[in-house]
This record gives sequence, structure tokens and C-alpha cells, in this order.
Amino acid sequence: TFPDAGGDMIRFLDVDGILYPYVEGADQASAIRASADAIAREDDIILCNYPKSGTHWLWEVICMIQRGSATTIPDIKQNHMIEVISADDLAAIPSPRVLNTHFRFSQLPRDMIKKRCKIVLNLRNPKDLAISFYNHHKNLLNLYRYDGKWENYLSLFNSGKVDYGSFYDYVLDWEQTIHQNPNYPIHVIYYEDMKENSGAEVRKLTKYMGVALSDELIHAIAEKCSFQNMVIDKVGFENEVWRKMWRDEKPLFYRKGEVGDWKNWFTVAQNEEFDKMYAKRMSNSKLKFRFSL
Ligand code: A3P
Repeated sequence: TFPDAGGDMIRFLDVDGILYPYVEGADQASAIRASADAIAREDDIILCNYPKSGTHWLWEVICMIQRGSATTIPDIKQNHMIEVISADDLAAIPSPRVLNTHFRFSQLPRDMIKKRCKIVLNLRNPKDLAISFYNHHKNLLNLYRYDGKWENYLSLFNSGKVDYGSFYDYVLDWEQTIHQNPNYPIHVIYYEDMKENSGAEVRKLTKYMGVALSDELIHAIAEKCSFQNMVIDKVGFENEVWRKMWRDEKPLFYRKGEVGDWKNWFTVAQNEEFDKMYAKRMSNSKLKFRFSL
């Protein structure tokens, strides 16, 4: 456990120096370590994102594109998460698989890189991410045991004392990966671009995935996966295990779904401090995050 700036504790699992959510009774360390040796299939697609970047949203979109149908996927993305499920469960998923992970490129199963599986990297601006992650940590009571205040949380996020480590290290690591592997097929997508024009982003995804869909279907998928629809359609599929871990049984993974919610939370002082830190941390990066639309 770590204390936030106000002394409230937050609980994690440390596996080989990386922090993960702590799930009681699960042998996560084995699952995490075993995932490096998972067997890939050429037609696997791997959705990679830092937590709270819109993994549920993009997973749903990619699954619908692959199935060629704007119909709700009767499953949840946690059941397709590389570092969470066992090797047997991973092997039991029928092809074509849409897997997802919060791992970095170097942590992905080696066989997936060898087989050049398609990778979609989904990114989100760190101010909204920090708010989303704060609510996640606070509301997943049985995992994190955390009940701190927002004003004391931001330093945890910025110093990377959260599951999967620092957001900044994560995105800079991916940027370097893309730079060093110019021929590897990685499709980058931003949460903010999806919010602004989901139809255009879904179309780009179909091209990258090599799936030909009509304009009508592309728009139907974008619409079916809007926040307003997913919050209704998907909640029933979030299983009992998750629901028991939520504070107040709120639909945790569908909270607000906006760009710029951070403005309702950051104080002026927090924002100034954040901007200074961000400019320093990201000075060598060409990644262009948008903090509002
Ligand atoms: P907020 O907490 O800002 O609302 P992840 O799936 O990686 O855990 O990310 C969760 C974030 O994505 C939450 O952000 C959630 O509300 C948002 N989200 C989920 N479905 C969405 C959708 N269809 N459109 C926009 N945002 C969505």
C-alpha cells in the first residue's frame, strides 16, 4: 500500500516492480508472468491502452468491425485481457480474437510480435485520465481500499504510483517503440478524436483492419458505441464479480465519457503545476494530446 498526499492508503499488487490491481484469492502474479509466453494467432488484434483511456469503448468498436455488425457484444473486455486471464482461457477464445492489455510493447507476448499481430494503441489526455483513474481507484473499493480526496490524489498519478506505473513513461515508451519499429503495424487512435468524430475514426480502423464495411454500417457502429448507448447496453454484461467490487453499485466503467471533465475538478493551482510538469516530462515528445474539444 502507498499513502496519497493526505495519508490515505491505496493498495496494489507488486509483480516484478510493476504495480497491478490487487485481486484477493487470484494468482495474478502467475497469470501476468505466464502471459509473456502466450501463443499468438496471425489474426489476433491487440488493443493497447493505459488504464482509463477508453478500453471498453474501443474494444466494443473493434469487435463490431470484425464481426461486421452493429450489435452489442455479449461479453466484457476483461475476459479478453492478456494479463488477467489464464493461458487456457486465452487459448479457448475462438478466432479472430480481439485481445486487450495495459502492457507496453516490450511486455506483450513475444509470439504476438513475432507473428506481427495488429496493434491498436488508444491514447487519452492525462488530465481527464487522472480524473477517471481517481474515480476508478475510489469506486473499486474492494480492490484498492482507497477513500482519499482528489486534492491529495494527483501527485500519486503524476509520480506513477498507480497500477501499470507512470502514464508519462507509458506513452513515451510507446512513442519510442513506434519510432524504433517503423515497419511494425501499429494504429494510433486518440480518445478525443473518437469523441469529436467517431465515424471518421471507425472508418480509419476498418482500413487498418482490412475490413470493408459500408458507410451505413460504419456510422451504425459509431452510434451503437456512443457513451449513451453503451452505458445502457453493456452494464448487464459486467459480471457479478465486478459489481460486488463497486462502491454504490455504480456503472464504474461508464462514468461520464467526456473530454474536459478535468475542468470540473482541477483547481487553478493544480492546473498550473500540472502544465509545468507536463511541459517538462513531455518536452521531447511529438504526441499531441488535446485537453478540450
Ligand atoms: P470517465 O471516467 O472519464 O467517464 P477504460 O474503459 O479504459 O477503463 O476507460 C473508462 C473511461 O472511458 C471512462 O471515462 C468511461 O466513462 C469512458 N467511456 C466508456 N465508454 C465510453 C464511450 N462509449 N464513449 C466515451 N467514453 C466512454
